[in-house]
Amino acid sequence: MSIPVTTLNDGSDLPLLGLGTYKLTGEEVGPVVRTAIELGYRHIDTASLYGNEAEVGKAINDAITAGDVTREELVVTTKLWNDDQHRAGEAFQESLQRLGLEFIDIYLVHWPWPQRGLYAQAFESIVKLQGTGQLRSVGVANFYEAVLDDILDTTGVVPVLNQIELHAGFTQPELRTYHAEKGIVTEAWAPLARGASFTAPEIVAVADKHGATPAQVVLAYLMALGCSVIPKTANPQRLVENLGAVDVVLDRDDIATLDSVAGHRMSGDPREFPGSDAL
Ligand SMILES: NC(=O)c1ccc[n+]([C@@H]2O[C@H](COP(=O)([O-])OP(=O)(O)OC[C@H]3O[C@@H](n4cnc5c(N)ncnc54)[C@H](OP(=O)(O)O)[C@@H]3O)[C@@H](O)[C@H]2O)c1
Repeated sequence: MSIPVTTLNDGSDLPLLGLGTYKLTGEEVGPVVRTAIELGYRHIDTASLYGNEAEVGKAINDAITAGDVTREELVVTTKLWNDDQHRAGEAFQESLQRLGLEFIDIYLVHWPWPQRGLYAQAFESIVKLQGTGQLRSVGVANFYEAVLDDILDTTGVVPVLNQIELHAGFTQPELRTYHAEKGIVTEAWAPLARGASFTAPEIVAVADKHGATPAQVVLAYLMALGCSVIPKTANPQRLVENLGAVDVVLDRDDIATLDSVAGHRMSGDPREFPGSDAL
């Protein structure tokens, strides 16, 4: 089993399957990250919002010290939280400190928050961090076409990826087409729809056909669509299970079946979230 890797528009590599860490906090997150690395995960997604950067960074450093992995083999993503958009450079340094790493692989503007009007300035600030040796790649999360156009016009820099809510039943085809045209990787957050769609008959049918689990099928589906996926689990068996998605090879009929799953956005629409009330 090997995790497929895609090359980002700045030449860096990104394993298409990684570990999400939202809601993994305190003593829980360290062992999960260590186990994930032992199993072969090479891409870890955190954020200042998650309150776990210190524990994630410690687990990564412990894994490196133990000889489980090298820093160069890992891709570590963290994110600029909304409240820090006006002070992106300082917030980046704080994340780097908390992680205890020499560099961060990918730094994302977490939400555009268009009502605040600072996302282009924030993206421009993190672009300036590239080339300092502290940051490899710049990206965004929850951006949509109009705000992507805006940052492209303002900075001339194409983010390496856009991490968006995406799962079976809500696959955002128009935005994925836009990404493909611009050379932006689509990274799916909540790729398992937080477990909501595992009982969909289409998913169960494809899982039965392949002797796979629903989680494996939806992750294989999103990777077949060209997306990077970052499923979160606190459970070691599910870490193994989710990684097994890379061995599930779907055919065109399976993809058509999974395209017909019903679903909807589960979280806030980034055109509106967090909105004017949060200003
Ligand atoms: N950029 C953003 O705005 C944004 C927003 C949300 C999330 N994210 C990132 O995306 C990652 C993934 O999204 P998410 O955590 O919201 O949702 P998710 O990965 O779709 O789902 C996680 C949920 O599914 C369960 N689960 C995991 N593997 C399973 C399996 N094999 N079988 C059954 N249940 C399983 C987990 O429970 P257990 O832990 O009990 O296994 C957890 O409740 C986050 O962790 C975070 O890194 C980014």
